[in-house]
Amino acid sequence: MSSHWSDYWQGNAYDSFGEIKTDQSIEVVNSKWINFLSEFKTKQNILDIGTGGGTLIRLGLKHQKCKHSYVGIDYARLNFPEHISLNKDVTIIENENIESLTLETNSIDVALSQFAIEYSDWERSLAEIKRILRQNGRFQFICHHKKSEIIRRNSLILKVLERTLEDNGIVRTVSDLILALRTTPNKIQLLDRMRIKLKSELKQLHHSFSDEINDINLPQFVQMVFSHEHTSNREKITESYRQELVSYRLRLKALIAAALDQDSLSKLKEQFKHAKLELNTTELIYQDKLLLAIVLVGENSIS
Ligand SMILES: C[S@@+](CC[C@H](N)C(=O)[O-])C[C@H]1O[C@@H](n2cnc3c(N)ncnc32)[C@H](O)[C@@H]1O
Repeated sequence: MSSHWSDYWQGNAYDSFGEIKTDQSIEVVNSKWINFLSEFKTKQNILDIGTGGGTLIRLGLKHQKCKHSYVGIDYARLNFPEHISLNKDVTIIENENIESLTLETNSIDVALSQFAIEYSDWERSLAEIKRILRQNGRFQFICHHKKSEIIRRNSLILKVLERTLEDNGIVRTVSDLILALRTTPNKIQLLDRMRIKLKSELKQLHHSFSDEINDINLPQFVQMVFSHEHTSNREKITESYRQELVSYRLRLKALIAAALDQDSLSKLKEQFKHAKLELNTTELIYQDKLLLAIVLVGENSIS
């Protein structure tokens, strides 16, 4: 099980675009799903791979042309609201790896994945999809692309996370100041020097990463941790913020490593052949001129 994803879904996260989503980019991606799902006029058993917060299942339930059934699998621990988890047309299976599914052979009509399957070992996951997808069953996967706007922005966020978490980074400066405030409250000059250091580090980060420091809530954290109402639990707040950043860093590293480029896409096409799955189209999708993702569409038509 992946704990950094489990931590993420235990919060109030609903999708994994994170802070960088815009209504327009979501619309572009969603329209790819709505168009694909509207092709199915009879009831389908639909698998959502790496369902996370169930974005695709919610979208399917809202826009379906007829009543489908949905199976959402994820190897993380999830957190669905009751109107989804108690819906009798929806089955959620947590702790389920796409590389070794417990689902029955030929049990699925349509397989979907949004920003999830690319995290897996393609050879093993495609072999599983081949096994569980019925003959002529269809699939659509929307995957991260190395040159996308999502990866560009997340790479910057990763940089600011690395800087913040360095041994002599700003989280350390905050911890040192909290300790000094508690243990040497009378050393006014020392405290002033530490405050000046903190301000200057924040300013430098703001200069190079003005959007990204907000993506990781850094100014909000500094303001909160030194506010009077939190005097007694500053250490706790700082430790929980640090842990959040560490988990975020793991997610972003995995995200950037998983994104496809020309080279990995060529290798991937071979993997589809090897798994005997027909890959019909690969399409780059854009919002205005910004690349968002790559869409892979195909079917289980090779016996
Ligand atoms: C970026 S999130 C996408 C979630 C959701 N599809 C969305 O679009 O909001 C990736 C999800 O894939 C899941 N995941 C990654 N590798 C997986 C694997 N091998 N098997 C099952 N789930 C996996 C993660 O736990 C995470 O919930």
